[in-house]
Amino acid sequence: MIRLDGKQTSATLKREIAEQVEQLVKAGGKQPHLAAILVGNDGASETYVASKVRACKEVGFKSSLFRYETTVTEAELLSKIEDINSDRDIDGLIVQLPLPKHISEEKVTEKIDPSKDVDGFHPQNMGRLALGSPCFVSATPHGIMELIARYNIQTSGKKCVVIGRSNIVGRPMSILMSQKGIDTTVTLCHSRTQDLKEICLEADIIIAALGKVEFLKADMVKEGATVIDVGITRVPSDKTKSGWKLLGDVDFENVAPKCNFITPVPGGVGPMTIASLLFNTLKSAKKEVYNS
Ligand code: GUN
Repeated sequence: MIRLDGKQTSATLKREIAEQVEQLVKAGGKQPHLAAILVGNDGASETYVASKVRACKEVGFKSSLFRYETTVTEAELLSKIEDINSDRDIDGLIVQLPLPKHISEEKVTEKIDPSKDVDGFHPQNMGRLALGSPCFVSATPHGIMELIARYNIQTSGKKCVVIGRSNIVGRPMSILMSQKGIDTTVTLCHSRTQDLKEICLEADIIIAALGKVEFLKADMVKEGATVIDVGITRVPSDKTKSGWKLLGDVDFENVAPKCNFITPVPGGVGPMTIASLLFNTLKSAKKEVYNS
């Protein structure tokens, strides 16, 4: 069994990005610049945004964090996004989700200029992804594809089961795993799927992205499978300083011995997500997706 080490792989990816930033700046270009909008003070969102800002610094990016109280209106937020859209110094913009209930995530996502949408959530980027055209691939799916490529995991003709159909992970993952060059046969499972265990037992690759702690059990996985765990649920713990620990969607202890490859939680998909956000921001700064 080989652990897919997201910590180490993301460090490699970040090193590659830092080298490119250095070259860009040496050649007279400007530093890539990522802007983040954070509404409220949800603990998990605070942690993610702080990690993103820290990662920018590590690779030589500029970052700007715009914080708002939960009482911010939708109109104020949309107006800020417009300002950032027209700010020529900013290459990428993310609005940390979830947003308070009175703000439409759909309206906010659609307001972001697709050429700065480094989260890849805008319908234009999602549409391009489905068509196989140049686009920003959302960070978690991109990070998973990098892990699969860098560990040389065989995909062509294999059976892939994706559990969870979210717009952020499951749906784009199912598109990426069936694209030309990857060539798996994909089954996208969700809360209404019947016979999930039987479907999983056929799979060469399982991507668990449903957000239920230790949902995927050993009796659902065939010998030699690759298991990718996207879950990151905070559960209370009296063994950590923070008072919580992270658990995945996979019962790691019992599933791992059956696998050829498996991602741990933490240290698997999570760090790859942040590195992929940086990757997209660099792509934006270099005008590699949209060239105006
Ligand atoms: N909330 C959970 N995951 C994400 C993400 O990848 N990007 C943003 N903007 N918000 C999130």
